[in-house]
Amino acid sequence: LGPEVEPHALRKAAGTAARAIKNAASAALALPSRTPAELVAVTEGWRLGGYRYTTYKSSPGADETASVSVLSPHARSAEFVAAFERVLVLIEAVWRTRDLINMPPGDLRPPDFAGIVAAACEELAQQPAGQLTCTVYDEEQLADLGCGGILGVGQASGAPPRLVELTWVPTGADKAPDLAAPHLALVGKGITFDSGGLAIKPAASMKGMKQDMGGAAAVVHATLAIAKLGVPVRVSTFVPMAENMVDGNALRPGDVVHTYRGKTIEVSNTDAEGRLILADALGRAVEVEPDAIVDVATLTGHMVMSLGDRIAGLLGNDDALRDRLLDCAEAAGEHVWPMPIPEEMHERVVKNTIADVNQHDWARYGGGLYAAAVLEQFVESFPWAHLDIAGPAFHNGGATGHITPGGTGFAVATLVALAESLAE
Ligand code: BES
Ligand code: ZN
Ligand code: ZN
Repeated sequence: LGPEVEPHALRKAAGTAARAIKNAASAALALPSRTPAELVAVTEGWRLGGYRYTTYKSSPGADETASVSVLSPHARSAEFVAAFERVLVLIEAVWRTRDLINMPPGDLRPPDFAGIVAAACEELAQQPAGQLTCTVYDEEQLADLGCGGILGVGQASGAPPRLVELTWVPTGADKAPDLAAPHLALVGKGITFDSGGLAIKPAASMKGMKQDMGGAAAVVHATLAIAKLGVPVRVSTFVPMAENMVDGNALRPGDVVHTYRGKTIEVSNTDAEGRLILADALGRAVEVEPDAIVDVATLTGHMVMSLGDRIAGLLGNDDALRDRLLDCAEAAGEHVWPMPIPEEMHERVVKNTIADVNQHDWARYGGGLYAAAVLEQFVESFPWAHLDIAGPAFHNGGATGHITPGGTGFAVATLVALAESLAE
């Protein structure tokens, strides 16, 4: 654990231990759990490090340790008990986010994904602390709404696109919406598979593209966790879902999409599809007039080049929201790094002779920043932050600490912490 025990080291150690102990009916973890943060780190490490995705295995292998005790000298303290119960809810949310990302993309096309989210929501609908609702818009309703970005990206797929909207209204907030709870809007990129479209990806880059709904899965399960925990913050969550495929009806470079609130985008690279579906969803988010909008997206390979595969890029238009998110990520044990949106990007984004917004401009450098500048066109003047999780959403190597192969569930813990921080 090193000379100074930190939650980060505890999380890692407990994760390694979870995989090292095989065939035990029960285990007791006597790692330092002297503060709520240490107790939480040990519990997270064990549960997340022990995660395995076995749905498609004909024999799942060794059984999980059936009973695990986390030993703490403060086990009777109400503060410790509350922290422990909270983190169990969070861990479940991360597990379920990982499950969704790990699912084969042929089994999780937009209508499947929307159905799973709606069913999960239904289970939680009536709660003492508030009300959770879910609305699914199908392709006809998307046409009526005017969501040309989502429809355009989804138009070459045999499975039509969807937009899923969740709302969490804590008890009391419905009566005096302005006075009561702060209002957070979450938006998540839900490309269930990204072939690149006509700008088709080479095989090696396409292989991992089932992960392209990692942002969507994270905002959904963060919202459900916020509801289960009864956090007194109003949450509106917008999840555009489409499959970016190739056929005779595919979106072409040169096409113009009409986004939800009227702005047009000229498409030049069908593989930059995330910003097209997010444009519609951000427009929907603007209309609920939230106190803050946070979008989470596996948006660009450029961000992976910049920050590697363990760190998310954080961009936006509001310093206070950025600083708050950095603090929340730190407390949640997730690595997030601030990145700028330089002024010149704004100029490039609006420089188009055909449409209002230029989707992509073929400059090789700073593509992650350019993508954020495109999104900024759709948030109007609301405080907004963008998390590009293209690197950390998916882990390609072997298990390490609390991170296991495949979907990581990145951003769930930070978003739940953000809602709690706004509630304070
Ligand atoms: N889904 C990808 C980004 C991505 C890359 C996610 C690696 C996860 C891991 C995105 O839609 C994409 O293809 N982006 C392009 C943007 C470019 C065409 C401007 C990219 O990053 O190359
Ligand atoms: Zn994509
Ligand atoms: Zn793409």
